[in-house]
Amino acid sequence: MVNRYGGYENQQFVAEFYDSEYEHLRSISKDVDFYVDCSRGTGGRTLELGCGTGRVLIPTAISGCEITGLDLSPHMLTKCQEKLDEQVAEVQQRVKLIQGNMTDFKTCETYSLVTIPFRPFQHIVDLDEQKACLRCINEHLIPQGKLIFDIFHPYPPRLVYNNKYAEEIEDLPETQLPDGRKLRRTNRMAAFHRNLQYNDIELIYYVTYPDGREERLVQSFPMRYFYRYEMEHLLELCGFRVVELFGDFEKSDFSIDSPEMIFFAEKK
Ligand SMILES: C[S@@+](CC[C@H](N)C(=O)[O-])C[C@H]1O[C@@H](n2cnc3c(N)ncnc32)[C@H](O)[C@@H]1O
Repeated sequence: MVNRYGGYENQQFVAEFYDSEYEHLRSISKDVDFYVDCSRGTGGRTLELGCGTGRVLIPTAISGCEITGLDLSPHMLTKCQEKLDEQVAEVQQRVKLIQGNMTDFKTCETYSLVTIPFRPFQHIVDLDEQKACLRCINEHLIPQGKLIFDIFHPYPPRLVYNNKYAEEIEDLPETQLPDGRKLRRTNRMAAFHRNLQYNDIELIYYVTYPDGREERLVQSFPMRYFYRYEMEHLLELCGFRVVELFGDFEKSDFSIDSPEMIFFAEKK
């Protein structure tokens, strides 16, 4: 299995393009405001696992919360640090960044909230590693501390072989990068492993340079999908009680058409 954890740690171009693509794609889904409110509502320190370029972490620190970000990818963390360096000193002082694997980490601190925004948990394909991650989180929470994270709500037609999804689908219209290059992105399911509950995904970046030269770069990784009750059992097994389950970032009840599964769990 190549690129076990999303390929962020060994494919530098992913970190380079991440912010321009997700500013566009996630602007409609309100996840940043949602997670900032979660940290503000909890009151204590937050640990964000898979913090990436700080898309959620930096607004959280700007809102006045103390937050530690952990990520496996040095490239994503470098981007995050560059963005943090542009903030005023008091925002910078609220943030700690750690390079580490969320399946096996020790920060030597405890938190009132752990978050995993935008599906990093789905990069953990192996069951023992999923349990190790949840147990590690549990050890880092104060009594009754919260774990909040989102994963997608499995959509059956995308989980079995289907020409429609095996071929490239445009997911990011062409945008201009600050250095003059143009970027567009497609995605495809390269393989379907229904028995193992993951798909091999390819995110394909087409870059056009100002001199007309073109480049095609592929981020490929396995993406594990979870069913609702599987996740509830997994959380219970690892020392959590599920408190709430929402279907989107406006906190709608989880329903048949919900795009997301957003779990609120509490340390038992
Ligand atoms: C889709 S990005 C999400 C980034 C950020 N949370 C956001 O909302 O923009 C997934 C991130 O999870 C990180 N990641 C994946 N597997 C990881 C692991 N096992 N431990 C730590 N970070 C991991 C990747 O390096 C990447 O930065």
